[in-house]
Amino acid sequence: MAAQLDWKNLGFGYIKTPYRYTARYRDGKWDEGRLTDEDKIVISECAGVLQYAQTAFEGLKAYTTRDGKIVTFRPDLNAERMEQSAARLEMPVFPREKFLEAVDMVVAANRDYVPPYGSGATLYIRPFMFGSSEVIGVKPAKEYEFRMFCTPVGPYFKGGIKPISIRVSDFDRAAPHGTGHIKAGLNYAMSLHAIVDAHEKGFDENMYLDAATRTYVEETGGANFLFVTGDGKIVTPKSDSILPSITRQSLCYVAEHILGMTVEHRPVKFEEVAGFAECGLCGTAAVISPVGKIDDHGREILFPSGMDEMGPVTKKLYDTLTGIQMGTLPAPQGWIREIK
Ligand code: PLP
Ligand code: COI
Repeated sequence: MAAQLDWKNLGFGYIKTPYRYTARYRDGKWDEGRLTDEDKIVISECAGVLQYAQTAFEGLKAYTTRDGKIVTFRPDLNAERMEQSAARLEMPVFPREKFLEAVDMVVAANRDYVPPYGSGATLYIRPFMFGSSEVIGVKPAKEYEFRMFCTPVGPYFKGGIKPISIRVSDFDRAAPHGTGHIKAGLNYAMSLHAIVDAHEKGFDENMYLDAATRTYVEETGGANFLFVTGDGKIVTPKSDSILPSITRQSLCYVAEHILGMTVEHRPVKFEEVAGFAECGLCGTAAVISPVGKIDDHGREILFPSGMDEMGPVTKKLYDTLTGIQMGTLPAPQGWIREIK
């Protein structure tokens, strides 16, 4: 029986669901992995994750389609990105096939919590992995736990798909040659002070510039940028220190191959930004959240699309992507994985 939740008014928060997946790495290998109803984790006070932040995570969603199927969107790319995160943090790779199996198991076991079609909510799935054995000298742990839970969520930004206002941050999120390109918990720890400060000053998010020169656009704390030029081209920033967003890659594919638009993935100078017609934040949680205003130390960049509605190109991309996810538009080969 479907859970009794106020689906239409869900925020982006944690609601405990009945089952989660757990697998342990010990003596050089992963165990079988299983579902559990235990949401608490008991680890040593000296665990690698607690001392040296040895942890990485992923984020993907499950959707109820118009014809009542439950599907996930490109989970293979999350599995692959988690491999890259693990490798960079000296953690063992969790096998891709097992990752996909875990997604299927967690969603199926919690199917009553997958929000209904048309509610605007989705099931957010959070795979994560951490060093669980003791380390006191700075080195990788010997033992790890891989977990995956899920929680029904509404829009990431309050107000749903209303344009948000962001500011150029004086704090950096990622260093050149650091860990910005992987989904390491430490990147988000780096951003916590900046986001609290931004919220206190009335902004929804931070725009991070490249840490070395502060002249190029990087991303926000939880999403990549997507810009639209006055003549309808899509431009997305390229940098070695931003997270390669699966949503951004998918939107660019949609723009180029379905909507017949021109797409440029290249370094974007901050000074170019005022010349764009539309700006959006793209990510699993953000989907595409339109940006209406960017504050650069008191100088405001106002996009012509304004603060009331999504710009027309952003809207078209949003409708096409969510249409593919919700089964109202045909999906490119391999994008949709049905949960039986
Ligand atoms: N950038 C950051 C820093 C993120 O945390 C996320 C969220 O996962 C993204 C970008 C968007 O990535 P994706 O579209 O794969 O969710
Ligand atoms: C996601 O979109 O999956 C993320 O991890 C972003 C996070 C800020 C919620």
